[in-house]
Amino acid sequence: MRTLTTETIPKVGQIVTLQGWVATRRDHGKIIFLDVRDRSGLVQVVGISGILKAEVRKTLSKIGVEDVVSVTGKVSRRPEKLINPKIATGEVEVQLETITILNKAKELPFPIDTDGYNIDEEIRLKYRYLDLRRPRMTRNLKLRSQVTTFIRNFLTKQNFIEVETPILTKTTPEGARDFLVPSRLQKGNFYALPQSPQQYKQLLMVAGLERYFQIARCFRDEDPRADRAYGEFTQLDLEISFVTQQDILQLTEELFIQLVKEIFPQKHFTQDKFQVISHANAIKGWASDKPDLRKNNKDPDELAFVWVIDFPLFTEQSEKDYFHGSGSAKFAPSHHMFTAPHPDDIPLLDTDPTKVRGLQHDLVLNGYEVGGGSIRIHQADVQEKVFDLIGFSETQKRQFAHMLTAFSYGVPPHGGIAPGIDRFLMAILSEPSVREVMAYPAAASGKISVMDAPSPATPEQLSEVGLTLAKKKK
Ligand code: AMO
Repeated sequence: MRTLTTETIPKVGQIVTLQGWVATRRDHGKIIFLDVRDRSGLVQVVGISGILKAEVRKTLSKIGVEDVVSVTGKVSRRPEKLINPKIATGEVEVQLETITILNKAKELPFPIDTDGYNIDEEIRLKYRYLDLRRPRMTRNLKLRSQVTTFIRNFLTKQNFIEVETPILTKTTPEGARDFLVPSRLQKGNFYALPQSPQQYKQLLMVAGLERYFQIARCFRDEDPRADRAYGEFTQLDLEISFVTQQDILQLTEELFIQLVKEIFPQKHFTQDKFQVISHANAIKGWASDKPDLRKNNKDPDELAFVWVIDFPLFTEQSEKDYFHGSGSAKFAPSHHMFTAPHPDDIPLLDTDPTKVRGLQHDLVLNGYEVGGGSIRIHQADVQEKVFDLIGFSETQKRQFAHMLTAFSYGVPPHGGIAPGIDRFLMAILSEPSVREVMAYPAAASGKISVMDAPSPATPEQLSEVGLTLAKKKK
Protein backbone atom coordinates (compact mmCIF):
# COMPACT_ATOMS: atom_id res chain seq x y z
CA MET A 1 0.00 0.00 0.00
CA ARG A 2 1.48 3.31 -1.06
CA THR A 3 1.25 6.32 1.23
CA LEU A 4 1.51 9.78 -0.31
CA THR A 5 4.18 11.97 1.30
CA THR A 6 1.65 14.42 2.79
CA GLU A 7 -0.41 11.53 4.18
CA THR A 8 2.46 10.74 6.58
CA ILE A 9 1.52 13.63 8.92
CA PRO A 10 -1.20 11.77 10.87
CA LYS A 11 0.65 8.44 10.68
CA VAL A 12 3.32 8.92 13.38
CA GLY A 13 4.40 5.52 14.67
CA GLN A 14 3.22 3.65 11.56
CA ILE A 15 5.28 1.89 8.89
CA VAL A 16 4.65 3.41 5.44
CA THR A 17 5.83 2.87 1.88
CA LEU A 18 6.47 5.99 -0.17
CA GLN A 19 7.02 6.07 -3.92
CA GLY A 20 8.40 9.09 -5.70
CA TRP A 21 11.45 11.04 -6.78
CA VAL A 22 14.51 11.91 -4.71
CA ALA A 23 14.34 15.72 -4.64
CA THR A 24 17.49 16.20 -2.54
CA ARG A 25 20.15 13.97 -1.01
CA ARG A 26 22.38 15.10 1.88
CA ASP A 27 24.99 12.59 2.96
CA HIS A 28 26.65 13.20 6.34
CA GLY A 29 28.38 9.79 6.47
CA LYS A 30 26.67 8.32 9.53
CA ILE A 31 23.34 9.81 8.59
CA ILE A 32 21.79 10.44 5.18
CA PHE A 33 18.78 12.65 4.42
CA LEU A 34 16.59 12.27 1.34
CA ASP A 35 13.63 14.46 0.43
CA VAL A 36 11.17 12.22 -1.37
CA ARG A 37 8.71 14.02 -3.66
CA ASP A 38 5.41 12.86 -5.14
CA ARG A 39 2.32 14.54 -6.53
CA SER A 40 1.21 15.63 -3.06
CA GLY A 41 4.46 17.28 -1.89
CA LEU A 42 7.57 15.94 -0.17
CA VAL A 43 8.78 14.47 3.09
CA GLN A 44 12.18 14.01 4.68
CA VAL A 45 13.50 10.46 4.90
CA VAL A 46 16.35 9.75 7.34
CA GLY A 47 18.74 6.81 7.00
CA ILE A 48 21.05 6.02 9.94
CA SER A 49 23.99 3.91 8.73
CA GLY A 50 24.52 2.18 12.07
CA ILE A 51 21.12 0.52 12.09
CA LEU A 52 20.66 -0.20 8.36
CA LYS A 53 21.28 -3.59 6.76
CA ALA A 54 24.42 -3.72 4.58
CA GLU A 55 22.42 -4.11 1.33
CA VAL A 56 20.24 -1.08 2.17
CA ARG A 57 23.40 0.96 2.86
CA LYS A 58 24.74 -0.15 -0.52
CA THR A 59 21.57 0.94 -2.36
CA LEU A 60 21.59 4.26 -0.48
CA SER A 61 25.14 4.97 -1.60
CA LYS A 62 24.02 4.69 -5.23
CA ILE A 63 20.95 6.94 -4.95
CA GLY A 64 21.08 10.10 -7.03
CA VAL A 65 18.86 13.15 -7.23
CA GLU A 66 15.66 12.58 -9.30
CA ASP A 67 15.97 8.78 -9.10
CA VAL A 68 12.56 7.14 -8.72
CA VAL A 69 12.46 5.15 -5.48
CA SER A 70 10.26 3.10 -3.21
CA VAL A 71 11.02 3.70 0.47
CA THR A 72 9.68 1.89 3.51
CA GLY A 73 10.11 3.22 7.03
CA LYS A 74 8.48 4.39 10.22
CA VAL A 75 6.93 7.86 10.49
CA SER A 76 8.24 9.73 13.53
CA ARG A 77 7.73 13.17 15.00
CA ARG A 78 10.77 15.43 14.50
CA PRO A 79 12.48 16.84 17.60
CA GLU A 80 11.10 20.34 18.32
CA LYS A 81 14.18 22.20 17.08
CA LEU A 82 14.28 20.28 13.78
CA ILE A 83 10.70 21.11 12.74
CA ASN A 84 10.66 22.75 9.29
CA PRO A 85 7.73 25.18 9.10
CA LYS A 86 8.36 25.78 5.38
CA ILE A 87 6.96 22.42 4.28
CA ALA A 88 3.59 20.80 5.00
CA THR A 89 5.25 17.65 6.38
CA GLY A 90 7.78 19.66 8.42
CA GLU A 91 6.79 18.14 11.78
CA VAL A 92 7.48 14.55 10.74
CA GLU A 93 10.12 12.43 9.02
CA VAL A 94 10.36 8.84 7.87
CA GLN A 95 13.01 6.59 9.48
CA LEU A 96 14.30 4.62 6.53
CA GLU A 97 14.24 0.80 6.72
CA THR A 98 14.42 -0.33 3.08
CA ILE A 99 14.79 1.42 -0.26
CA THR A 100 14.51 0.21 -3.86
CA ILE A 101 15.58 2.17 -6.92
CA LEU A 102 12.71 1.87 -9.43
CA ASN A 103 14.50 3.97 -12.03
CA LYS A 104 17.81 5.85 -12.22
CA ALA A 105 17.88 9.45 -13.43
CA LYS A 106 20.64 11.20 -15.32
CA GLU A 107 21.71 14.64 -14.17
CA LEU A 108 18.97 17.09 -15.17
CA PRO A 109 19.76 19.78 -17.79
CA PHE A 110 18.60 22.52 -15.41
CA PRO A 111 17.54 22.95 -11.79
CA ILE A 112 13.87 22.36 -11.02
CA ASP A 113 13.77 23.68 -7.47
CA THR A 114 13.86 27.32 -8.61
CA ASP A 115 11.08 29.39 -10.24
CA GLY A 116 12.84 28.80 -13.58
CA TYR A 117 12.29 32.26 -15.07
CA ASN A 118 16.03 32.72 -15.67
CA ILE A 119 16.51 29.52 -17.65
CA ASP A 120 16.56 29.73 -21.45
CA GLU A 121 12.95 29.06 -22.53
CA GLU A 122 14.00 26.95 -25.55
CA ILE A 123 15.71 24.50 -23.18
CA ARG A 124 12.80 24.54 -20.74
CA LEU A 125 10.44 23.68 -23.61
CA LYS A 126 12.71 20.96 -25.03
CA TYR A 127 12.66 19.19 -21.64
CA ARG A 128 9.17 20.35 -20.72
CA TYR A 129 8.42 17.10 -18.85
CA LEU A 130 11.24 18.05 -16.44
CA ASP A 131 10.30 21.72 -16.37
CA LEU A 132 6.80 20.67 -15.29
CA ARG A 133 8.29 19.02 -12.16
CA ARG A 134 9.00 22.59 -10.99
CA PRO A 135 6.53 23.32 -8.16
CA ARG A 136 5.37 26.57 -9.81
CA MET A 137 4.54 24.77 -13.06
CA THR A 138 2.82 21.87 -11.30
CA ARG A 139 0.76 24.39 -9.32
CA ASN A 140 -0.21 26.22 -12.54
CA LEU A 141 -1.42 23.01 -14.20
CA LYS A 142 -3.40 22.04 -11.08
CA LEU A 143 -5.07 25.45 -10.94
CA ARG A 144 -5.83 25.25 -14.64
CA SER A 145 -7.61 21.95 -14.10
CA GLN A 146 -9.55 23.39 -11.15
CA VAL A 147 -10.60 26.38 -13.26
CA THR A 148 -11.94 24.28 -16.16
CA THR A 149 -13.68 21.90 -13.73
CA PHE A 150 -15.31 24.86 -11.98
CA ILE A 151 -16.49 26.28 -15.32
CA ARG A 152 -17.95 22.92 -16.42
CA ASN A 153 -19.86 22.54 -13.16
CA PHE A 154 -21.06 26.15 -13.09
CA LEU A 155 -22.40 26.12 -16.64
CA THR A 156 -23.83 22.60 -16.46
CA LYS A 157 -25.81 23.67 -13.38
CA GLN A 158 -27.18 26.54 -15.47
CA ASN A 159 -28.43 24.12 -18.13
CA PHE A 160 -25.65 24.66 -20.67
CA ILE A 161 -24.78 21.72 -22.92
CA GLU A 162 -21.14 20.95 -23.67
CA VAL A 163 -20.65 20.14 -27.35
CA GLU A 164 -17.44 19.21 -29.18
CA THR A 165 -17.15 20.87 -32.57
CA PRO A 166 -14.85 19.72 -35.40
CA ILE A 167 -11.13 20.45 -35.56
CA LEU A 168 -10.90 19.49 -39.23
CA THR A 169 -13.07 22.19 -40.71
CA LYS A 170 -13.26 25.18 -42.98
CA THR A 171 -11.87 28.65 -42.51
CA THR A 172 -13.39 30.43 -39.50
CA PRO A 173 -11.80 33.84 -39.80
CA GLU A 174 -10.99 35.62 -36.56
CA GLY A 175 -8.33 37.80 -38.15
CA ALA A 176 -5.37 35.42 -38.13
CA ARG A 177 -3.88 33.09 -40.75
CA ASP A 178 -5.39 29.59 -40.98
CA PHE A 179 -3.57 26.30 -40.50
CA LEU A 180 -4.30 24.07 -43.49
CA VAL A 181 -4.45 20.26 -43.52
CA PRO A 182 -4.38 18.52 -46.92
CA SER A 183 -7.19 16.05 -47.58
CA ARG A 184 -6.39 12.54 -48.89
CA LEU A 185 -9.95 11.65 -49.90
CA GLN A 186 -10.61 15.02 -51.55
CA LYS A 187 -7.23 15.52 -53.21
CA GLY A 188 -6.29 19.13 -53.83
CA ASN A 189 -8.60 20.32 -51.06
CA PHE A 190 -7.68 21.41 -47.57
CA TYR A 191 -9.30 21.49 -44.18
CA ALA A 192 -8.61 24.55 -42.08
CA LEU A 193 -8.19 24.21 -38.31
CA PRO A 194 -10.75 26.41 -36.51
CA GLN A 195 -9.56 29.81 -35.28
CA SER A 196 -12.53 29.44 -32.93
CA PRO A 197 -15.78 27.40 -32.97
CA GLN A 198 -17.64 30.62 -33.93
CA GLN A 199 -19.70 29.35 -36.86
CA TYR A 200 -20.43 25.94 -35.34
CA LYS A 201 -21.72 27.51 -32.14
CA GLN A 202 -24.00 29.83 -34.09
CA LEU A 203 -25.28 26.84 -36.07
CA LEU A 204 -25.98 25.08 -32.72
CA MET A 205 -28.31 27.99 -31.96
CA VAL A 206 -30.13 27.29 -35.24
CA ALA A 207 -30.27 23.67 -34.02
CA GLY A 208 -32.20 24.87 -30.98
CA LEU A 209 -29.65 24.06 -28.22
CA GLU A 210 -30.08 27.57 -26.78
CA ARG A 211 -27.21 27.21 -24.27
CA TYR A 212 -23.88 25.81 -25.50
CA PHE A 213 -20.38 25.80 -24.11
CA GLN A 214 -17.09 24.13 -24.87
CA ILE A 215 -13.56 24.24 -23.47
CA ALA A 216 -12.40 24.72 -27.03
CA ARG A 217 -9.01 24.51 -28.68
CA CYS A 218 -8.45 27.32 -31.19
CA PHE A 219 -5.75 27.45 -33.85
CA ARG A 220 -4.24 30.67 -35.19
CA ASP A 221 -1.10 31.14 -37.20
CA GLU A 222 -0.05 34.53 -35.88
CA ASP A 223 3.12 35.93 -34.37
CA PRO A 224 3.38 35.04 -30.67
CA ARG A 225 3.58 37.62 -27.90
CA ALA A 226 3.76 37.28 -24.14
CA ASP A 227 -0.05 37.18 -23.92
CA ARG A 228 -0.62 35.36 -27.22
CA ALA A 229 0.29 31.73 -27.73
CA TYR A 230 1.58 30.63 -31.11
CA GLY A 231 -0.49 28.03 -32.91
CA GLU A 232 -3.08 26.92 -30.42
CA PHE A 233 -4.75 28.08 -27.24
CA THR A 234 -7.93 27.36 -25.28
CA GLN A 235 -11.15 29.31 -24.90
CA LEU A 236 -14.20 28.85 -22.76
CA ASP A 237 -16.52 29.26 -25.74
CA LEU A 238 -20.20 29.86 -25.04
CA GLU A 239 -23.32 30.90 -26.91
CA ILE A 240 -26.90 31.62 -25.80
CA SER A 241 -30.17 32.16 -27.69
CA PHE A 242 -32.85 34.74 -26.87
CA VAL A 243 -30.28 36.74 -24.94
CA THR A 244 -29.37 40.38 -24.48
CA GLN A 245 -25.87 41.77 -24.17
CA GLN A 246 -26.70 42.58 -20.55
CA ASP A 247 -27.55 38.90 -19.87
CA ILE A 248 -24.18 37.76 -21.26
CA LEU A 249 -22.30 40.31 -19.18
CA GLN A 250 -24.16 39.29 -16.04
CA LEU A 251 -23.65 35.54 -16.49
CA THR A 252 -19.93 35.94 -17.28
CA GLU A 253 -19.47 38.26 -14.31
CA GLU A 254 -21.16 35.79 -11.94
CA LEU A 255 -19.02 32.96 -13.29
CA PHE A 256 -15.74 34.83 -12.77
CA ILE A 257 -16.65 36.20 -9.34
CA GLN A 258 -17.62 32.77 -8.03
CA LEU A 259 -14.62 31.13 -9.69
CA VAL A 260 -12.18 33.59 -8.10
CA LYS A 261 -13.82 33.24 -4.67
CA GLU A 262 -13.57 29.46 -4.81
CA ILE A 263 -10.21 28.88 -6.50
CA PHE A 264 -8.26 32.05 -5.74
CA PRO A 265 -9.62 33.05 -2.29
CA GLN A 266 -6.59 35.24 -1.51
CA LYS A 267 -7.50 37.61 -4.39
CA HIS A 268 -9.67 40.68 -3.98
CA PHE A 269 -11.64 42.80 -6.44
CA THR A 270 -11.02 46.52 -7.02
CA GLN A 271 -14.79 46.88 -7.37
CA ASP A 272 -17.49 44.34 -6.52
CA LYS A 273 -19.35 45.03 -9.77
CA PHE A 274 -17.36 44.95 -13.00
CA GLN A 275 -17.20 48.49 -14.37
CA VAL A 276 -18.67 48.95 -17.87
CA ILE A 277 -16.87 51.48 -20.09
CA SER A 278 -17.60 52.46 -23.67
CA HIS A 279 -14.81 52.02 -26.17
CA ALA A 280 -14.78 55.79 -26.80
CA ASN A 281 -14.38 56.54 -23.07
CA ALA A 282 -11.67 53.90 -22.66
CA ILE A 283 -9.66 55.54 -25.43
CA LYS A 284 -10.36 59.02 -24.05
CA GLY A 285 -9.55 58.14 -20.44
CA TRP A 286 -6.82 55.52 -20.72
CA ALA A 287 -5.66 55.70 -24.35
CA SER A 288 -6.33 51.96 -24.48
CA ASP A 289 -9.20 49.60 -25.19
CA LYS A 290 -7.81 47.42 -22.38
CA PRO A 291 -7.72 49.82 -19.43
CA ASP A 292 -6.01 48.67 -16.25
CA LEU A 293 -8.22 49.93 -13.42
CA ARG A 294 -6.27 48.51 -10.48
CA LYS A 295 -5.75 50.95 -7.59
CA ASN A 296 -2.34 49.42 -6.86
CA ASN A 297 -0.74 47.59 -9.77
CA LYS A 298 2.02 46.34 -7.45
CA ASP A 299 -0.51 44.27 -5.47
CA PRO A 300 -0.41 40.78 -7.05
CA ASP A 301 -3.78 39.93 -5.46
CA GLU A 302 -5.80 42.86 -6.81
CA LEU A 303 -8.17 42.08 -9.68
CA ALA A 304 -9.78 44.82 -11.78
CA PHE A 305 -12.30 43.36 -14.20
CA VAL A 306 -13.79 45.82 -16.71
CA TRP A 307 -16.26 45.45 -19.56
CA VAL A 308 -15.51 47.47 -22.67
CA ILE A 309 -18.54 47.84 -24.97
CA ASP A 310 -19.73 49.96 -27.90
CA PHE A 311 -16.71 49.23 -30.08
CA PRO A 312 -16.90 50.58 -33.61
CA LEU A 313 -18.19 47.72 -35.80
CA PHE A 314 -15.45 48.32 -38.35
CA THR A 315 -11.87 49.47 -38.29
CA GLU A 316 -10.50 51.22 -41.33
CA GLN A 317 -7.61 49.32 -42.82
CA SER A 318 -4.68 50.11 -44.99
CA GLU A 319 -3.78 48.14 -48.09
CA LYS A 320 -1.25 45.89 -46.38
CA ASP A 321 -3.56 44.37 -43.79
CA TYR A 322 -6.64 43.62 -45.85
CA PHE A 323 -8.87 41.38 -43.83
CA HIS A 324 -8.97 37.80 -45.04
CA GLY A 325 -7.59 38.77 -48.45
CA SER A 326 -10.70 40.84 -49.01
CA GLY A 327 -9.66 42.80 -52.06
CA SER A 328 -9.57 46.54 -51.68
CA ALA A 329 -12.12 47.00 -48.89
CA LYS A 330 -11.62 49.97 -46.64
CA PHE A 331 -13.13 48.19 -43.63
CA ALA A 332 -12.32 45.18 -41.53
CA PRO A 333 -14.57 43.93 -38.73
CA SER A 334 -13.28 45.12 -35.33
CA HIS A 335 -14.27 41.83 -33.74
CA HIS A 336 -15.47 39.41 -36.38
CA MET A 337 -17.90 39.57 -39.26
CA PHE A 338 -20.78 37.96 -37.37
CA THR A 339 -21.02 40.74 -34.76
CA ALA A 340 -24.32 42.63 -34.91
CA PRO A 341 -24.44 46.37 -35.43
CA HIS A 342 -26.12 48.40 -32.69
CA PRO A 343 -29.83 48.51 -33.73
CA ASP A 344 -29.84 52.34 -33.57
CA ASP A 345 -26.91 52.47 -36.02
CA ILE A 346 -28.18 50.15 -38.78
CA PRO A 347 -29.09 53.07 -41.13
CA LEU A 348 -25.46 54.25 -40.83
CA LEU A 349 -24.29 51.06 -42.55
CA ASP A 350 -25.34 52.75 -45.81
CA THR A 351 -24.21 56.29 -45.00
CA ASP A 352 -21.28 56.29 -42.58
CA PRO A 353 -20.07 52.78 -41.64
CA THR A 354 -17.24 54.07 -39.44
CA LYS A 355 -19.85 55.50 -37.04
CA VAL A 356 -21.65 52.17 -36.57
CA ARG A 357 -21.22 50.70 -33.09
CA GLY A 358 -21.06 46.93 -32.74
CA LEU A 359 -22.74 44.91 -29.99
CA GLN A 360 -19.31 43.65 -28.99
CA HIS A 361 -18.14 43.16 -25.41
CA ASP A 362 -14.57 42.63 -24.28
CA LEU A 363 -13.73 41.45 -20.79
CA VAL A 364 -10.55 43.09 -19.52
CA LEU A 365 -8.59 41.99 -16.43
CA ASN A 366 -5.71 44.10 -15.09
CA GLY A 367 -5.05 45.52 -18.57
CA TYR A 368 -5.36 42.23 -20.49
CA GLU A 369 -8.20 41.37 -22.87
CA VAL A 370 -9.27 38.08 -21.32
CA GLY A 371 -12.45 37.60 -23.31
CA GLY A 372 -14.37 38.82 -26.33
CA GLY A 373 -17.84 38.25 -27.66
CA SER A 374 -20.92 39.85 -29.14
CA ILE A 375 -24.57 39.69 -30.04
CA ARG A 376 -24.62 38.16 -33.54
CA ILE A 377 -26.21 39.18 -36.76
CA HIS A 378 -29.21 36.91 -37.30
CA GLN A 379 -30.71 38.57 -40.35
CA ALA A 380 -29.33 37.39 -43.71
CA ASP A 381 -29.69 40.86 -45.30
CA VAL A 382 -27.61 42.56 -42.58
CA GLN A 383 -24.99 39.81 -42.86
CA GLU A 384 -24.79 40.34 -46.64
CA LYS A 385 -24.36 44.07 -46.09
CA VAL A 386 -21.46 43.47 -43.70
CA PHE A 387 -19.88 41.06 -46.20
CA ASP A 388 -20.12 43.79 -48.85
CA LEU A 389 -18.62 46.44 -46.57
CA ILE A 390 -15.64 44.25 -45.73
CA GLY A 391 -15.19 43.75 -49.46
CA PHE A 392 -16.10 40.08 -49.82
CA SER A 393 -16.18 38.86 -53.39
CA GLU A 394 -18.97 36.54 -54.51
CA THR A 395 -16.53 33.62 -54.13
CA GLN A 396 -15.70 34.63 -50.57
CA LYS A 397 -19.39 35.04 -49.73
CA ARG A 398 -20.00 31.53 -51.05
CA GLN A 399 -17.55 30.23 -48.40
CA PHE A 400 -20.12 31.34 -45.81
CA ALA A 401 -23.22 30.33 -47.76
CA HIS A 402 -23.94 27.63 -45.14
CA MET A 403 -24.48 30.37 -42.54
CA LEU A 404 -26.94 32.30 -44.73
CA THR A 405 -28.72 29.08 -45.68
CA ALA A 406 -28.99 28.04 -42.02
CA PHE A 407 -30.28 31.47 -41.09
CA SER A 408 -33.12 31.03 -43.56
CA TYR A 409 -34.61 28.20 -41.46
CA GLY A 410 -35.54 30.06 -38.29
CA VAL A 411 -32.58 31.36 -36.37
CA PRO A 412 -33.14 32.76 -32.86
CA PRO A 413 -31.45 36.01 -31.89
CA HIS A 414 -28.26 34.91 -30.16
CA GLY A 415 -24.92 35.97 -28.77
CA GLY A 416 -22.02 34.78 -26.69
CA ILE A 417 -18.49 35.25 -25.50
CA ALA A 418 -15.19 33.39 -25.36
CA PRO A 419 -12.87 34.07 -22.44
CA GLY A 420 -9.32 32.83 -23.10
CA ILE A 421 -8.35 30.25 -20.49
CA ASP A 422 -4.60 30.73 -20.97
CA ARG A 423 -4.79 34.52 -20.96
CA PHE A 424 -7.03 34.57 -17.86
CA LEU A 425 -4.66 32.27 -15.94
CA MET A 426 -1.65 34.29 -17.01
CA ALA A 427 -3.28 37.50 -15.76
CA ILE A 428 -4.59 36.13 -12.46
CA LEU A 429 -1.34 34.33 -11.63
CA SER A 430 0.75 37.38 -12.70
CA GLU A 431 2.77 35.11 -14.98
CA PRO A 432 4.94 36.87 -17.58
CA SER A 433 3.62 34.78 -20.50
CA VAL A 434 0.74 32.48 -21.47
CA ARG A 435 3.28 29.70 -21.99
CA GLU A 436 3.74 29.50 -18.20
CA VAL A 437 0.18 28.18 -17.82
CA MET A 438 0.23 25.73 -20.77
CA ALA A 439 1.62 22.19 -20.58
CA TYR A 440 3.25 22.04 -24.03
CA PRO A 441 3.25 25.47 -25.69
CA ALA A 442 5.03 26.08 -28.97
CA ALA A 443 8.26 28.04 -28.85
CA ALA A 444 8.44 31.46 -30.52
CA SER A 445 9.88 29.68 -33.58
CA GLY A 446 6.65 27.65 -33.88
CA LYS A 447 8.42 24.47 -32.79
CA ILE A 448 6.86 22.08 -30.29
CA SER A 449 10.28 21.30 -28.90
CA VAL A 450 9.53 18.14 -26.88
CA MET A 451 8.29 16.32 -30.00
CA ASP A 452 10.42 18.26 -32.47
CA ALA A 453 7.31 19.18 -34.47
CA PRO A 454 6.70 20.21 -37.20
CA SER A 455 8.69 17.61 -39.12
CA PRO A 456 9.04 16.67 -42.79
CA ALA A 457 6.49 14.37 -44.46
CA THR A 458 7.70 11.29 -46.33
CA PRO A 459 7.38 11.26 -50.14
CA GLU A 460 4.63 8.61 -49.72
CA GLN A 461 2.64 10.82 -47.35
CA LEU A 462 2.95 13.75 -49.74
CA SER A 463 1.88 11.70 -52.72
CA GLU A 464 -1.14 10.31 -50.85
CA VAL A 465 -2.47 13.83 -50.38
CA GLY A 466 -1.45 14.87 -53.89
CA LEU A 467 1.24 17.34 -52.87
CA THR A 468 4.69 18.01 -54.28
CA LEU A 469 7.04 20.38 -52.52
CA ALA A 470 8.46 23.29 -54.45
CA LYS A 471 12.27 23.21 -54.59
CA LYS A 472 13.81 25.52 -51.99
CA LYS A 473 15.33 28.58 -53.63
CA LYS A 474 19.10 28.64 -53.11
P1 AMO B 1 -11.46 36.55 -29.90
O1 AMO B 1 -10.69 36.36 -31.14
O2 AMO B 1 -11.60 37.94 -29.34
O3 AMO B 1 -12.96 36.07 -30.05
O4 AMO B 1 -10.84 35.61 -28.79
C1 AMO B 1 -11.41 35.51 -27.50
C2 AMO B 1 -10.34 35.40 -26.43
O5 AMO B 1 -9.43 34.34 -26.72
C3 AMO B 1 -8.14 34.67 -26.20
N1 AMO B 1 -7.13 34.58 -27.26
C4 AMO B 1 -5.90 34.06 -27.10
N2 AMO B 1 -5.29 33.54 -26.02
C5 AMO B 1 -4.05 33.07 -26.17
N3 AMO B 1 -3.37 33.09 -27.33
C6 AMO B 1 -3.93 33.60 -28.45
N4 AMO B 1 -3.25 33.58 -29.61
C7 AMO B 1 -5.26 34.13 -28.36
N5 AMO B 1 -6.12 34.70 -29.23
C8 AMO B 1 -7.24 34.96 -28.55
C9 AMO B 1 -8.24 36.06 -25.62
C10 AMO B 1 -9.44 36.61 -26.33
O6 AMO B 1 -10.07 37.63 -25.58
N6 AMO B 1 -15.17 33.63 -31.63
C11 AMO B 1 -14.87 34.82 -30.84
C12 AMO B 1 -15.60 34.83 -29.54
C13 AMO B 1 -17.06 35.22 -29.64
O7 AMO B 1 -17.38 36.15 -30.40
O8 AMO B 1 -17.86 34.59 -28.91
C14 AMO B 1 -13.37 34.88 -30.62
O9 AMO B 1 -12.63 33.95 -30.81
O10 AMO B 1 -8.48 35.96 -24.23
